[in-house]
Amino acid sequence: MAKPASQFVCQDCGAVTLKWAGKCEACGAWNSIVEEAGRQEIPKGLSSGKGRKIEFVGLEGSSAPLPRMLTGIGELDRVCGGGLVPGSCLLVGGDPGIGKSTLLLQATAALSANATVAYISGEEAVDQVRMRAVRLGHAKAKVALASATSLRDILASLDGPDTPQVVVIDSIQTVYADNIESAPGTVSQVRACSAELIRLAKRRGFVLFLVGHVTKDGQIAGPRVLEHMVDTVLYFEGDRGHQFRILRATKNRFGATDEIGVFEMTDRGLSEVANPSALFLAERRGNVSGSCVFGGMEGTRPMLVEIQALVAPSTLSSPRRAVVGWDTNRLSMVMAVLDARCGLALSGNDVYLNVAGGLRIAEPAADLAVAAALLSSASDIPVPADMVVFGEIGLSGEVRAVAQADTRLKEAAKLGFAQALVPSRPRKDKGAGGGGSLKIRSIGHLQDVLELFQPK
Ligand code: TYD
Ligand code: MG
Repeated sequence: MAKPASQFVCQDCGAVTLKWAGKCEACGAWNSIVEEAGRQEIPKGLSSGKGRKIEFVGLEGSSAPLPRMLTGIGELDRVCGGGLVPGSCLLVGGDPGIGKSTLLLQATAALSANATVAYISGEEAVDQVRMRAVRLGHAKAKVALASATSLRDILASLDGPDTPQVVVIDSIQTVYADNIESAPGTVSQVRACSAELIRLAKRRGFVLFLVGHVTKDGQIAGPRVLEHMVDTVLYFEGDRGHQFRILRATKNRFGATDEIGVFEMTDRGLSEVANPSALFLAERRGNVSGSCVFGGMEGTRPMLVEIQALVAPSTLSSPRRAVVGWDTNRLSMVMAVLDARCGLALSGNDVYLNVAGGLRIAEPAADLAVAAALLSSASDIPVPADMVVFGEIGLSGEVRAVAQADTRLKEAAKLGFAQALVPSRPRKDKGAGGGGSLKIRSIGHLQDVLELFQPK
C-alpha cells in the first residue's frame, strides 16, 4: 500500500493544498499553512454500492421537546436561548484570560446541584482547577474533575451507563486523537476530535461544552469548520482592562443569536449583571461636552450606553481617527454627512470616539448619538445630561426610524432620563407606549439637531 502522502492545510480556513506556500490562496492569510499527515484517498463509485433505504417521516411528529436544563446563571441561560438542550454542543470562544474556564467552572458547579457534570481540563492540572474552585466558592460542588488530553481515553470514559449529563472540554485544542499524526491543535486534529465528541454527545444525550481558543484576529483558532459542526457558538468578549465581560451568541440552533449576557469579573469570579445600563452609565459625569447617552438594544434587552467623542485640532497632514467599540467606516459616514449636509467640517481635526464600559455596538441606530456627541464636542456645548438619543442617519442627512423605539424609551424612563431625541415616527404609536414621562423631541433631519448646539 502506498504511504499516505502528507497534505498542507491552512490553519485559518481549513483549505488543503498539495504543497507549502507562504500565503493561503483561499483566505489570503500569511504563514498559516502547516504540513499535516495522511491525505485521504477520494472514494470512487459510491452509487453502485448497496445502501440501506432511509425512512422518511412527516415534519409533524410525536417527539416531545426535551426539557431544557437551566444552569442557574441567568445570563448564560438567556444567551443559550433559555437553557441547555440535552445532546447539544456549545463552542465557547474568546481571548486567552478572558474568563472562559472561570465561567464554565461556575456553570458546572451550579449545574452539579441537579445534574451529573464532568469537567475535563487539558490545560490545567486537577489541583489548579481545585484552587480556582476554592476561590470561586464552589469547593464542595459535585463536579467530576479530570485532567486529560487523549481523545481515546476521554471517549472511553464518557461512553458508558454512567455518562454525565454535562461535559466540559477545556480546551478542544489540547485534545488529540492518536490515529492522526498532526500535532494537537491543528485543523485535522481539532476537526476529528470535535466530530467524535459531538457524535458521542448526540448518541448519549449529554450537553457538550467545547472551549476554543481564538487567534489574533478573533476567529476561533484553526477551524471555521468547527463552527459548522456545533449547535451553538458563544463568544466571550471584553477588554481585559475593563471588568465587564460580554457573552454573545453568534450562532444558535436553539435560540436567537442577538442576545448577550453581561458579566462582571470580580475577585470571586464572574458575577451576573442584571441591569447593564445602570452599570455602563455609572461613571458618567453630567454636563460635559462630547458625551451622549445612546438608547441601544442588545437582542431583546434595552441597554443604555454612553458614547464619548473628542474633536481636537490636528497638526497631522492626515488627522487621526480612533474608534473604540464602534465601526470606523460608520464614523466616517456620519462625519461625511455632517460635513455635506450640516456644514460641520472636521477634516482638520483629530476625532476620537469611545463607547464607555468596553461594550461593542453594531447597531446603525447609534448614528444619531454619535453625531450628537461629535457636534457637542466640536461646539463645546454639552448634550443635556438627562437626554437619551437614538436614530439611524441616511446619506442625505435624514434621520430614520429604528426598531423597538418604545422599549428603548421605557428603559430610559426607568433610569431617570427626562428627554429623548428620536426619529420622527411615521407610525401612529406616537409618543404613547413606553415613552411615558419622557419629553420626546422627534426630528426628521440631522439639521434639526444643530439647534441644540447653538451658543445661547
Ligand atoms: P480564565 O477563566 O482562566 O480565562 P480563559 O480560560 O478564558 O483563558 O480567566 C483568567 C482571568 O480571570 C485571569 O486574568 C484572572 C481573572 N480572574 C479573576 O479576576 N477573578 C477570579 O475569581 C478568577 C477565577 C479569575
Ligand atoms: Mg482557560
